[in-house]
Amino acid sequence: MDGKNIKALFTENDQSQIFADFDALSANEKQTLLSDCASVDFSWLAERIQQFKQEENAAVKTIEIEPAPIVALPKTRSELAREKDARTVGEEALRAGRLAAFLVAGGQGTRLGFDGPKGCYEVGPVTDKTLFRWHAEQILARAKRYGATIPWYIMTSRANDADTRKYFAKNDYLGFDKEDVMFFQQAVVPSVDFNGKLIRADRGGLALNPDGHGGSLGALVRSGAIADMKKRGVDTISYFQVDNPLVTICDPVFIGYHLKQHAQMSSKILDKSCPEEKVGHICLQNGKTTVIEYSDLDEENMHARESSGRLKFWAGSIAIHMLSVDFVQSVGGGARLPWHLAKKKIPYYDNGNIVTPDQPNGIKFETFVFDALPLTEASVTMEVAREDEFAPVKNATGVDSAESCRQLLSNYFGRWLEAAGVSVPRNENGDVTIPIEISPLFALDENELKAKLPEGFAVGEKIVL
Ligand code: UTP
Repeated sequence: MDGKNIKALFTENDQSQIFADFDALSANEKQTLLSDCASVDFSWLAERIQQFKQEENAAVKTIEIEPAPIVALPKTRSELAREKDARTVGEEALRAGRLAAFLVAGGQGTRLGFDGPKGCYEVGPVTDKTLFRWHAEQILARAKRYGATIPWYIMTSRANDADTRKYFAKNDYLGFDKEDVMFFQQAVVPSVDFNGKLIRADRGGLALNPDGHGGSLGALVRSGAIADMKKRGVDTISYFQVDNPLVTICDPVFIGYHLKQHAQMSSKILDKSCPEEKVGHICLQNGKTTVIEYSDLDEENMHARESSGRLKFWAGSIAIHMLSVDFVQSVGGGARLPWHLAKKKIPYYDNGNIVTPDQPNGIKFETFVFDALPLTEASVTMEVAREDEFAPVKNATGVDSAESCRQLLSNYFGRWLEAAGVSVPRNENGDVTIPIEISPLFALDENELKAKLPEGFAVGEKIVL
């Protein structure tokens, strides 16, 4: 479509504000703005604006949900035997090269406010190890343990794709063979103000945002990643987020439960720390495994308790999934997941300036990967211990920050050292008081550490292994 037609289409759809200063733009700015505008799907946009109006006027209602069946942390002998069995199945799949690691790293990381891809953020308790490197070392160590290649697929987005690829190229693909790391971009969609008007992000562009981690399923298919997996004999995908260095990627136990149940998508959950904790809730809705976002859980369900006093909906989702390749192909190749709307502060271009609002001024549209759960025929929900698997970096300071993440990593490795008979200093809160960092390439777990730790190992002011 040429510029004239695009402008006419925008006028027809009551969006001519986007071209108010078009004549004053440089040739390059005109071209990039027109290219953004050409990507707008007006029938999609009309549906979203309609959805916004409906949701604004909808009354809050109690949701009909039930707790989901959960594979709880093993305590009894039979539960431990079941876990062992699952581990064996998972290890066989790893040895057979059936696994791929899949990182979603297309988010905007607005809360962290870091200039660059979030994966380049440094979170080593002692060293400057980045989130990308933590993940890379873990995948490489697990591949080595099972004598197989684990290809790594990384979803980026328009804003961070080039910088992500540059970082990997500059750092020798973090130890991977170049052909075993594949990058691809998710789609973007336009944001609008509260009147449904499209927003200019700068002189030469619209305000567009990545289409949410739910966009990963379609992007896996469109990019050829799924075809590549099939060619390699991969049938199971270990899905994880960029901001949690404690995630166990390609966890053999999780793989085992997922495969034994012939599940299409499975999830790890943890016991919520309080009713209001800001994590999604795994439950059953109409008999289907579902995640209800914390913001959508009504007060009654949020605070409901079992007769034992335990929260009825205690299962908090931590966005760690196992997916079957065939399932991704069928969902990702078909219709999109439902759209979620969020009121956000969206920077906008105004008369030569880029204004960063201090209040939400518009709506972002996103899809969520967990909305694929109700589409499964079978799904496993597995409990993990918070301290073993969850150290997210979301904010610049305070809760879920790099600082809290480093402390959680030191605590985690401190427990490994203690299990190996080393005395580790702790404060009155139980936190380890020295920074400890153990590379997955040195030890992937407590047992490997025990086997490798030199005799008479002594704790100093900091530990790096
Ligand atoms: P978050 O929901 O924490 O969002 O993403 P975010 O963009 O990283 O951070 P905020 O909310 O702007 O502060 C969880 C994971 O999903 C990925 C992120 O990169 C992160 O790994 N994600 C999120 C995508 O890959 N694409 C998206 O569109 C959104």
